[in-house]
Amino acid sequence: MSQFVPISPKVSLPRLRTTDSRIRRLLEKEAPMEAWPIDERKKITEKIRYLQDRYNDDRTNIDYSSKHTQIAYAIAYYPNYVEGLTQILELINRSHSLYNEWASYFHEQRRQPLNVVFFGSGPAPELYSFKRFLDFLCRQAMLPDGGYFPQVSVDLFEMEQAWEWSLDNITKSLMNHERQPSHRKMNINFQQHDLTKPFSSIANQIKQEYHLIFLQNLANEIPTSDQETRSLINNLKLFIGRLKPGVGYCVIASRGFQNYRVNNLIRHYVEQEESLEFVIDSKKIELNANCEEQKDKVLKDYIYSELYVGSRFDYRRFDNKSHVIAIKSVVK
Ligand SMILES: C[S@@+](CC[C@H](N)C(=O)[O-])C[C@H]1O[C@@H](n2cnc3c(N)ncnc32)[C@H](O)[C@@H]1O
Repeated sequence: MSQFVPISPKVSLPRLRTTDSRIRRLLEKEAPMEAWPIDERKKITEKIRYLQDRYNDDRTNIDYSSKHTQIAYAIAYYPNYVEGLTQILELINRSHSLYNEWASYFHEQRRQPLNVVFFGSGPAPELYSFKRFLDFLCRQAMLPDGGYFPQVSVDLFEMEQAWEWSLDNITKSLMNHERQPSHRKMNINFQQHDLTKPFSSIANQIKQEYHLIFLQNLANEIPTSDQETRSLINNLKLFIGRLKPGVGYCVIASRGFQNYRVNNLIRHYVEQEESLEFVIDSKKIELNANCEEQKDKVLKDYIYSELYVGSRFDYRRFDNKSHVIAIKSVVK
């Protein structure tokens, strides 16, 4: 049996540089943007402003159901959030050798399931990030072949069913999902669920063990009522309780007041549980890896043609840093 090659804790995954133009090309599958009907253009720019307003005011109950809102999110937010997961895992790696820990686990387990869950995934930029991370990890550790690559099962728990359009047309396209060789093809399950409602009805769908639980930009959209927040925490605890000891992590990354509340409640829980420890305890992180210079010119012209030209409006405005906590399940 071959050995895996240890990965230096300093190793970094190359940053994604072309996401903006790649997203445009995906959106242009049917026609170039210039040829899109003017009404459509207007609706998309309106939705960009709608999302910015909602996020700035920390409002909940955001309506993501229309295709225009999803295109607006793909243009204005998706590129910012696509690398959050990679950045956070890289950070954990520096202090906790996550890459070698996982590579060693994949090596020992040989094609065992790797269960991942994303809460409030929306179009799931974190899933694209996760795929790249995994491919990179196995390549660096020289575990690329069908004998070692884990069988990845991903559950996306999301309230808005309509996000499946973005999942299929953007994230799965970026991942080249349909053309993956069978040993690398992830089993992706989109599950419509309001995470502020008890999980009891679907408890039988919760897997035996999880290796990664990831919540990106969800907490700030949970209403501040005690009952809803507690329900989210109780649901989350069900999953955290099933983290695989020694290799299982839970990451919560979001911004705003409600995120502090969620994080504090989770902190209280972790402090009481011997099997859990913090690996990142409240760190502010700039998750917008794709900054100004990567803006795509065609996309920019398209958006600005319908916005107040010359004004200071920035469709990729990104003010606040995310607040991140990460928990590990340790071997008792
Ligand atoms: C800003 S989006 C984040 C999407 C993705 N995680 C990202 O980082 O780009 C927030 C997502 O949380 C979902 N969401 C909000 N409240 C929810 C709830 N109670 N249950 C499940 N999903 C919820 C929304 O529908 C939306 O897709």
